[in-house]
Amino acid sequence: MIDFASIHSDFPHHQRTIDGTPVVYLDSANTSQKPLAVIEAMREFTVNTYAPINRSAYRLAAAATDAFEEARAKVASFIGAEADNVVFTKNATESLNLFAQGWSRSHLSAGDVVVLTHMEHHANIVPWHMMAEELGIELRWIPLTADGQLDLVDLDSLFDGAKVVSFTAMSNVLGTLNPVREICDRAHAAGAIAMVDACQSVPHSVTDVKSMGADLIAFSGHKMLGPSGIGVLWGTSEILDRLPPLLGGGNMIDEVRLDGFSCAPVPAKFEAGTPPIIEAVGLGAAVDYLSALGMHHVRRHEMELTQYAMTALNDRFGDDVVIHGPSNIEVRGGVLSFAYRDLHPHDVSQILDERNVCVRAGHHCAKPLMKIIGAHATVRASLYLYNTTDDVDTLVDALAGADAIFGL
Ligand code: ALA
Repeated sequence: MIDFASIHSDFPHHQRTIDGTPVVYLDSANTSQKPLAVIEAMREFTVNTYAPINRSAYRLAAAATDAFEEARAKVASFIGAEADNVVFTKNATESLNLFAQGWSRSHLSAGDVVVLTHMEHHANIVPWHMMAEELGIELRWIPLTADGQLDLVDLDSLFDGAKVVSFTAMSNVLGTLNPVREICDRAHAAGAIAMVDACQSVPHSVTDVKSMGADLIAFSGHKMLGPSGIGVLWGTSEILDRLPPLLGGGNMIDEVRLDGFSCAPVPAKFEAGTPPIIEAVGLGAAVDYLSALGMHHVRRHEMELTQYAMTALNDRFGDDVVIHGPSNIEVRGGVLSFAYRDLHPHDVSQILDERNVCVRAGHHCAKPLMKIIGAHATVRASLYLYNTTDDVDTLVDALAGADAIFGL
């Protein structure tokens, strides 16, 4: 097993203090902190190798192009894919929009059915609403069970006639891990394409696109120790070849004439303009770092830590704390959204912040889900590989401090 406390020196963030007190970062579902290996790889590339890619013939440009493509190959290997099927985007939101808008405009028309779930975050809802307004497609929704899992009881009727099923692998609010393979298989059996929003799962567990059974997956670099400004859309050749580009410009063309143009092959077809070159190198370094740790170890660590946190919160606060989502650790990741007494989540977050405990409070970019679970906001502590039981203890102690402040 990996001693996760021993990797703290890899993360400069852990040296940060405010007013002499260490910072406890519990907002990794939002964005992750970066190890030195990523920071250094980006610095080294910028200083020694940076140049345009795919355009110029001099040796430095060739070296930069090689580094960019090497990063693509690393990401591909990390998810069990071929490099040509890995498209670099700006973030998971762009990846989801690329498919939702491109596929809808080219392959869907009024009345066609797209199935989403009640636990999607806005990036997998709003693009489809936009397409519903533009094209008249019908949106259907997989509901939730009482403990925050997807309720698959009526899947056959929901999937009947569906053209696309797009769903998250893991809820960023409830922590629920969804049965990706089963949903993809059932989508395919119904004749639908399966798109998986994997931005909360790829950073935390082993990903193998073939065993997932999806046609496309989307994720971001910044949630998996990499930099912001880069995301990934992976898709099968069959789908990516039929998906039109969203952006036109340099790099994505084969031929441009006064009377038209033709596209470059995938993935260049979707990478118009100068891409996030330094960021790709950083993401490659993040993938190296995660691979060296082993994603099954990362998942195991987070399972233990999540269980520890749930037990600690329940033991200390009993019914005063309500943790949303499944209690079975096998089907949840390290995201703990909770209510504390009747305190407003923003107040709780502020009190925790006074102890340098960083959590997110609010709707977590998942307003429909918040409404469904009957909360306008929650406090959310989200864990990652660099967190320890000490961090959880600090959270619990800081939360107890709210009682004194509010005279409870
Ligand atoms: N970044 C968003 C989150 O915090 C979606 O979960």
